[in-house]
Amino acid sequence: MDQSNTIEKETPTEFSIHPLIKERWSPRSFSEKTISEKEVKTLLEAGRWAPSSNNLQPWTIIWGIKGTETYDRIFNCLHKFNQGWAGNAQVLWACAIRKDIPNNDKENFHALHDLGLFMSNVCTQAESMDIAVHQMAGIDFKKAQNEFNFPDNYHVATAAAFGYYGGNPDVLDDDLKEEELKKERSRKKQSEFAFNGNFKK
Ligand SMILES: Cc1cc2nc3c(=O)[nH]c(=O)nc-3n(C[C@H](O)[C@H](O)[C@H](O)COP(=O)(O)O)c2cc1C
Repeated sequence: MDQSNTIEKETPTEFSIHPLIKERWSPRSFSEKTISEKEVKTLLEAGRWAPSSNNLQPWTIIWGIKGTETYDRIFNCLHKFNQGWAGNAQVLWACAIRKDIPNNDKENFHALHDLGLFMSNVCTQAESMDIAVHQMAGIDFKKAQNEFNFPDNYHVATAAAFGYYGGNPDVLDDDLKEEELKKERSRKKQSEFAFNGNFKK
């Protein structure tokens, strides 16, 4: 890691958890250290072994390394807000799901869930390599669908930006820089979403 730009985060856990989970966060500034094709394929491999409903593996990933046409084509599909920082990333992905079940007209209701599991594996693998991941809902999915020739039964759900931790937050606009440097990370309390009994509001 580029120690000169290490941003310290505080993660107030209620119970002790694995450092690969605890220390992950989503930066918008990244180190200038490049990410190789082999590293991208290592991340994809981690995703590949995610569980999925009926082992349907409904994910498709379009990936591009900075300086290549595919990177620029993914970048051009991002919403303006995300274009404001995602160009700092060394690798961009557009992440899609197949919406239907093969050989069956039915909708695969668990496809988004399974893409989430895929990305969770990717995030954990990336963290173990000191690579940060910043996922994005802010992608023009119709534009991406056309740009990358997806058939109608696919949906481009998200994008993701990758880069080694250790970026210089000065490259960000003032608002984003402030958020980047904020120490404390926050989450709902367990008592707000987990019930050993009936649902509670
Ligand atoms: C599916 C998904 C979509 C997201 N969309 C965006 C986005 O479009 N732009 C952005 O800047 N961050 C986006 N984020 C990042 C979240 O805001 C971030 O994960 C959340 O604030 C928690 O912060 P942490 O990842 O640093 O713990 C997204 C994250 C996920 C998982």
